[in-house]
Formats: sequence, structure tokens, C-alpha cells
Amino acid sequence: MADLVLGIESSCDDTAVALVKENGEVVSSLIASQVDIHSQFGGVFPELAGRAHLEAILPTIEAVFEQAGVTHKNVKAIGVTRGPGLIGSLLVGLNTAKSLGLGWNIPVIGVNHLRGHLRSADLEFEKVKYPAIVLLVSGGHTFLAHMESNTQINMLGTTRDDSVGEAYDKVSRMLGLGYPGGPVVDRTAKTGEANIPFPRPMIHKELEFSFSGLKSAVARYLDKVDTYKTEDVAASFVASVMEILIKKCEKAIKKYPAKCLVVVGGVAASPQLRQAMQLLCEQKGLELCLPPIKWSTDNAAMIALATWDYIRLGKHPKASPELNLSLGDF
Ligand code: KG4
Ligand code: ZN
Repeated sequence: MADLVLGIESSCDDTAVALVKENGEVVSSLIASQVDIHSQFGGVFPELAGRAHLEAILPTIEAVFEQAGVTHKNVKAIGVTRGPGLIGSLLVGLNTAKSLGLGWNIPVIGVNHLRGHLRSADLEFEKVKYPAIVLLVSGGHTFLAHMESNTQINMLGTTRDDSVGEAYDKVSRMLGLGYPGGPVVDRTAKTGEANIPFPRPMIHKELEFSFSGLKSAVARYLDKVDTYKTEDVAASFVASVMEILIKKCEKAIKKYPAKCLVVVGGVAASPQLRQAMQLLCEQKGLELCLPPIKWSTDNAAMIALATWDYIRLGKHPKASPELNLSLGDF
């Protein structure tokens, strides 16, 4: 029976492929990571990312079928990330998906990467109850949204400059901790004291964010002082990020009706953020919905789940690349 969606995600530096059922059950999921290629540059090198996707994509697709013990005859549609992302990387996924769709005679549906993240908390089993407030914190984006259903999304506020993940990665680089920065900054922060008064940019503004001032404040501090404890800088940076995110979520909860708070995107893998949001939800009497850690960072299972939404709606965005895709795209 054709009851699976093949998800393909290649927007940045991971070649991810997954087979997912309509109820969110992940039958098989694989990620060919490029972290070893990019870590020497302290960030993603776009040209190398595209080339690495090209090498990895077909073997990863073959492997995901083998792992699941199924063939393309079990696939109803292909869902592929069409943006936002690096153009060279996106094109590898899109062209592969289109070729396979033609060959297998099944639809190919272009999926907004951010919609994938927004749906990731429902992978494995459905948890999210609507209306919901969603905080998306990834390497490329940071925003708050109000979701009336899994497809009705209203933007509440976004970042004016850097995303939270970007700030983590840049601070990590300044401290010589490596790439990606999130996990290592979190780990380092746990052993330090948050004793440096870094700013909380735009904390009193409504629901918009700004993180470039915080990143610059860390850079200025490191320039100014002769000696410092790396773990204290990390702890102080993380404390500032947490306070901002908590405050913004608090404001959103006060303003909009919600049964749960959903936190998604790569930074949702942060133990500090998970704990802080748990506490906030307990105080506010809301349910906290988090994706399992492995579905917080980029993966193709979330793309496949969002594809099922498009299939149910009967509206299929084209599999064409889009670099700056707004969420109101259907
Ligand atoms: O969602 P994602 O995998 O890719 C984008 O769509 O951007 O997010 C990647 C970001 C990176 O900036 C990485 O440093 C951050 O997520 N990240 C974390 C953690 N794990 C990954 N940030 C904080 N704590 C973590 N444990
Ligand atoms: Zn992402």
C-alpha cells in the first residue's frame, strides 16, 4: 500500500531523507551530516555544501528504503524542501525529487522548511493542541507564531537581525569552541557562572527579537578584558538568551489564546531552553510541546509530515526553489 511520504531536506548542510506515515510515525530517517566538512571554516561553506549534497543524496535515499524494508511502490508522494535555504543545496534536493517523481509517476510537493520545523513536535505521535503559540529558534530563523490549526499560522514577531542559533554559533567561534556552536556553548555554560551583565536587547519591545547587539556585546567584552573564564562568558550569554526568550513567550501567552506552547528548531535541542520553557508552562498552566531532540535540528521527517498537511489540503505548492519564502505561501 502506498501509505508513505518520502521527505527530502537539503536546505543547508545536512542531506536528510525520511519515510513517514500520515499519523507522524517515522518509518525510517537518515541524515548524512556535513559537519566535518564545514567545521574547519566555523560555519557552512555554501559551494562545498551543494557538492556534498550531490554526492550523498542518492545513496541516502537508497539506504532509507533499505532500512525501512520497502520500495518506491509504498510511496504516495515526495515532499521536498523548496526554501528558505542555500540555493545550491536546495537545487540538489529539488532536482532529485522531481526526477524521482517523474520516474515513479507520483506527485512532488515543495515544502517550506519552516513549516517543517513548526510541525516537528507532532512527529512520532500527535501532541500539539490548538490554538498554540510556537517559538521557532533555529540557525536561520527566530520567530513567534500563533497557530490556529496545523496549517493556519499567524506570525507574531520575528528577529530584526540575527537568529538565536546564529548568535550561539558566533559566540562559540569567538570563544574558540567550534561549530556548530549550540551544543558546545550549552555544555560549557553549565559549568560557569552567569556573572557578566550582557544586555537583553529589545526585551521590552512587543514580540520582536534582536540578537546582534548581544553578540557584539560578547565580542566587545572579550576585546576589553585581559583574562576571562570561557565558561562564565558562555553562561552569561545563555542566561541573556533564556531571559529574552522567556519574556517574549510570556508576552505572547498573555496576549493570545493557547492550549500549548510549542518550541521547535535547532535551539530547541538546548537543555537550558527546554528546562526554562517547562518552568514557564508550569507557571502559566500550559502544556509544553517539544519535538524529541533528534527532530529539533534539521531532518526530513518534519518535511514529510508537513507534506501530509499539503496532501490533506489538496493544495500542492510547486517544487521550485524559493529563497525567502513567507509562511503565508498557500
Ligand atoms: O534547525 P537547525 O538544525 O537548522 C536551521 O534551520 O537553521 O538549527 C541549527 C542551529 C545552529 O545554530 C545550532 O548551533 C543550534 O541550532 N543548536 C543548538 C543546540 N543544538 C543545535 N543551540 C543551542 N543548544 C543546542 N543544544
Ligand atoms: Zn532548520
